[in-house]
Amino acid sequence: MTDKETQIEVLNDQFRLFPGTRYMGSKNKIIQDIGEILLEYEFDSFYDAFAGSNVVGYLFKTLGKKVITNDFMALSHTVSKAIIENSHQIISQEDLDFLLNTPSNQNFISKKFKGLYFEDNDNKFLDQVRDNIDKLGSEHKKALALSALTRSCMKKRPRGIFTFVGHRYDDGRQDMKLSLKEHFRINIKLFNNAVFDNIKECQSLNGLTESLNVEADLVYLDPPYFTPNSDNDYVRRYHFVEGLVKNWEGIDLQEHTKTKKFKSYSSPFSKRNETYEAFEKLIERFRSSIIAISYSSNCKPDKEELVAMLYKHKTNVLVHEIDHLYSFGNQNHKIGNNANRVKEYLFIGF
Ligand SMILES: C[S@@+](CC[C@H](N)C(=O)[O-])C[C@H]1O[C@@H](n2cnc3c(N)ncnc32)[C@H](O)[C@@H]1O
Repeated sequence: MTDKETQIEVLNDQFRLFPGTRYMGSKNKIIQDIGEILLEYEFDSFYDAFAGSNVVGYLFKTLGKKVITNDFMALSHTVSKAIIENSHQIISQEDLDFLLNTPSNQNFISKKFKGLYFEDNDNKFLDQVRDNIDKLGSEHKKALALSALTRSCMKKRPRGIFTFVGHRYDDGRQDMKLSLKEHFRINIKLFNNAVFDNIKECQSLNGLTESLNVEADLVYLDPPYFTPNSDNDYVRRYHFVEGLVKNWEGIDLQEHTKTKKFKSYSSPFSKRNETYEAFEKLIERFRSSIIAISYSSNCKPDKEELVAMLYKHKTNVLVHEIDHLYSFGNQNHKIGNNANRVKEYLFIGF
């Protein structure tokens, strides 16, 4: 055991209050390793540049760092705004009564998504609460309520995703039986409990990582993993909850699709020819920071290529290998299949 490990409990009591999801690519299962490895370095500010579920950013908030997160999904940004950027606001009983009991005549979800993901009563509830959330005074309260609402929807969906309609893969879990209203009450409590102050000014951003100027002592890059045969399209999976956060404003619904999804956001990390250049540019941009990159052994660029990219700007490069059984979006790759036993790498350039 190193001195650091005896001094700091990585997965502390506050961290255990993080409301996790089955978000694709979440580092939930290897968060202890990531925490232990990164705590070996000296840093005050931590930039989680592809925040996703926000589990990594939240861990470092609980460890006293000034955390900045970014993700181009509004879904991710909202969760970070609710429990990383926000240190004090919670949804009071009065706020909850307002959300649940104020009538609304909105019916967009009831009409547009009728029979697709949820029953009519759940859709009606979503219409009402979504409308009322906009009337909450504070941005952070809105973010908390939206986070609770999106997590409720993901919990009630088989596999937590919106790539198919109806209830295929319904495994009869209790989560499927609760109404969205019941889920929402539970999730409001969970999110309220996750709010705390670490005395640092943390910040949640919602842009393209390649276009933002952010400075931090340690920059953590966990972009979508590129492989030719797996699906790393976040909008396709989570379009319903992403649309819910944005209230489908500024979104071009693809009416002809069964799922009523909308056009995916463009990311260089979903295209083979752009991924390399995007990594090169990010590493160069953050050359004055400690750079940590999560990536996996079956992806492109491969280990040697990423190490070479880091050596262009850094004197020291270390690669940690974390054994991890990984489940891909692609249906042809089932858990238990050897092709799935990949190594999760954590590259550090310093
Ligand atoms: C592998 S996931 C991150 C997982 C996260 N570390 C966690 O533990 O949950 C990659 C994230 O990058 C986001 N993303 C993809 N391309 C992006 C871009 N160009 N700019 C900002 N975010 C992007 C996706 O929305 C997704 O949430």
